[in-house]
Amino acid sequence: MLAGKKILLIIGGGIAAYKSHETIRRLRERGASVVPVLTRAAEEFVTPLSVSALAGEKVYRDLFDLTDEAEMGHIQLSRAADLVVVAPATADLMAKMAAGLANDLASTLLMATDKRVLIAPAMNVRMWDHPATQRNRAQLASDGVLYVGPNEGDMACGEFGAGRMAEPLEIVAAIEGAFGGGPLKGKHVLVTSGPTHEPIDPVRYIANRSSGAQGAALAAALRDLGARVSFVTGPADVPPPAGVDVIRVQSARDMLTAVEAALPADAAVFAAAVADWRVANAAGQKMKKDASGTLPVLEFAENPDILRHVSQLGQGRPSLVVGFAAETEKVVEHATAKRARKGCDWIVANDVSPETGIMGGRENAVVIISDAGAESWPRMDKNEVAARLAARIAEALA
Ligand code: CTP
Repeated sequence: MLAGKKILLIIGGGIAAYKSHETIRRLRERGASVVPVLTRAAEEFVTPLSVSALAGEKVYRDLFDLTDEAEMGHIQLSRAADLVVVAPATADLMAKMAAGLANDLASTLLMATDKRVLIAPAMNVRMWDHPATQRNRAQLASDGVLYVGPNEGDMACGEFGAGRMAEPLEIVAAIEGAFGGGPLKGKHVLVTSGPTHEPIDPVRYIANRSSGAQGAALAAALRDLGARVSFVTGPADVPPPAGVDVIRVQSARDMLTAVEAALPADAAVFAAAVADWRVANAAGQKMKKDASGTLPVLEFAENPDILRHVSQLGQGRPSLVVGFAAETEKVVEHATAKRARKGCDWIVANDVSPETGIMGGRENAVVIISDAGAESWPRMDKNEVAARLAARIAEALA
């Protein structure tokens, strides 16, 4: 759907500029042409030669380059594009855009364009959180500027938080979304995410260490490809993405009810870490310490298996059902058996042993088990896993 589209890619001066190489490659793979513009600061991070070689186009750098003005003025340059993308969008570029400054080629193009503008912010977490940047973000959003990211994660500067630029495939998906739809347009996808909380009494519960990061990333990636997403989430650390229908639940049984209510769907992805057991003798009132020192004994009952239930629906089964398998050993063997047991189409298996740092961490290394066998993906950012998985889902539903 990007074939023949012309993207004006403004590369700002931040460490994330290195990702522009990959972004250009991915866009060209999809048939888009990329006209790159480098700010002066960007040239400290990537060279005009490398960008130009990958884009197969001249790189534009200077507002007062007379040759460029003769060949194509900045007005035409900004208008000939189908979409203007700023990646990375630094705090400085965002401030210029919000204030309407036009004192270099990039900011002038952004002022002169009559096309939509999509930005991928990238900066240190404190700079992102700064009230000035947040004011600019809100101003730009109300001006109609589209966003992709920033993501939360480790930063090149050694800090952690929001401000990491979106991954190249996420940017590509957002670009497809900006062109009115993406390959999942008209499709409904259900995603479960997060842990569940199983009450012991009204104030205590049993939970697990799932942060909900992978599920949230997946919902965002599916949304970016144009899907309508129903996002059924337990109490997760990571907030749900904007632009999806959020259904908040606590326990596994609530999750099942919410999933049933959200069907029918074209595809369903079960990324939640559902508690296998609930406390059968949960107390209606807060349990008190017993003066005699008698300790409470919890009895467990098995929770409904939501993935299996949906996989085995006759009529009303989504045409693609994807489960996750959290394993700590013999990942492929256990996940393959799990796929057969549950009756789902694909299993996305990962090793959640504590030493991998995957559960609650930023990265994931997954194996996709399907009819075609087991396919291992290298360890990568959870957002990247999400973007690839969303692209696969789009292919399967096409
Ligand atoms: N799942 C579910 N409902 C449950 C338990 C799991 O929908 N009650 C889904 C999860 O969302 C995930 C998949 O089933 O997509 C596998 O979850 P996992 O915890 O790895 O598997 P279990 O079935 O719990 O198997 P085991 O604990 O024996 O490994």
